[in-house]
Amino acid sequence: MSRFTFVTAGESHGPALTVTVSGVPAGLKLDRVRMNRELERRQQGYGRGGRMKIEHDEIVVTAGVRGGETIGSPVSISIPNADHEAWKGAMGVWELDATDAEARRLRSPRPGHVDLVGGIKFDRRDLRDVLERASARETAARVAAGAIAKELLLTFGIEIRSCVVSVGLAGDPQRAVAWPEMLAVDDSSPLRAIDAPTEEAMIAEVDKARADGETLGGALVVLAHGLPVGLGSHVQWDSKLDGRIAQAIMSVHAVKGVAIGDGIECASHPGSEVHDAIYFERDAGWIRTTNRAGGLEGGVTNGQDLVVRAFMKPISTLRKGLPSVDVDTRTPERSQWERSDISAVPACGVVCEAMLAIILADAMREKFGGDSIAEMTRNFRAYVDAARAY
Ligand SMILES: Cc1cc2nc3c(=O)[nH]c(=O)nc-3n(C[C@H](O)[C@H](O)[C@H](O)COP(=O)(O)O)c2cc1C
Repeated sequence: MSRFTFVTAGESHGPALTVTVSGVPAGLKLDRVRMNRELERRQQGYGRGGRMKIEHDEIVVTAGVRGGETIGSPVSISIPNADHEAWKGAMGVWELDATDAEARRLRSPRPGHVDLVGGIKFDRRDLRDVLERASARETAARVAAGAIAKELLLTFGIEIRSCVVSVGLAGDPQRAVAWPEMLAVDDSSPLRAIDAPTEEAMIAEVDKARADGETLGGALVVLAHGLPVGLGSHVQWDSKLDGRIAQAIMSVHAVKGVAIGDGIECASHPGSEVHDAIYFERDAGWIRTTNRAGGLEGGVTNGQDLVVRAFMKPISTLRKGLPSVDVDTRTPERSQWERSDISAVPACGVVCEAMLAIILADAMREKFGGDSIAEMTRNFRAYVDAARAY
């Protein structure tokens, strides 16, 4: 099976998160430091909750890797939850402490979370059974899978980065971001914002939200650089890369909108202002001087940077609560609050990077196949040479 795919398991306060990644070719060298750095990036960001201070995520690889190199079998990774120790009474796998479990019980569902509908759907009276899996803690496992995808892509010179373009009312959700600007974004800055003045305004927004017991969303841009022409396909609905990317990004917790390139703005402009004119130059080959399409035409990469914009809603756990109802008594209650982020847009960007990396790694496997990196590389080079000669 050459498709690159993954499955996660784990509860937010359970013993660990786990991810199994299949379709990883043999011979891919994995860099543990770089992979752990991805997990660390997901934990950063101004406006994050207290948990990020307690936990320092690290991968524990349990299958598919030998001597730092993949061997062609599924790769399994676990990320222990350091917080589990303090939650054993309420989240023990085999035994619960009745007092602890009752104290941690969630009974007034948070509007915007899956608490209530999940409780109804799975017939769980303690909504914690739903919350624990719905929590964005799961994204740590996605980032671990994405770190493998990034390692694979890097072998072929493909890089992925993200930055934050707006938080609340600060910044511009539609701001264009080119690759050189993306490279200039300071990865260790408080919000990984597109520029310093915008970041200051974003920090002020977060501070105000904190003081008001509020939460904030925002917008982020993810770019993939160095892609060959021809990933994805126009021939079936489910092979189009724009659709596959949109599904992957939209599956990220709290992401409620996705655009490729100028996808939203272009709806209100005439065609002559939207499409990227085609030129041919003897040395450079097929070129464009604009990239409004965001690197995809007909669901196929055109060799330009892939531009994905994601819009995140405000976090639904508000310190001041929202109107809700106690599921036992059916009486009005404010929705329950527990340790939570005020805003998590930069972390969401890291998760979106991971999801984009996974979709692109899958598209690379689809196009170039191979059971080993060496075989995949031979196929890749032959194709790139042929495409260049077209
Ligand atoms: C990185 C990240 C961190 C998040 N942190 C929180 C949080 O601390 N509290 C919270 O209520 N929601 C948080 N969310 C959002 C919820 O997980 C999400 O809104 C919820 O699962 C409902 O899913 P939906 O918004 O996709 O419909 C976070 C999302 C991301 C991407």
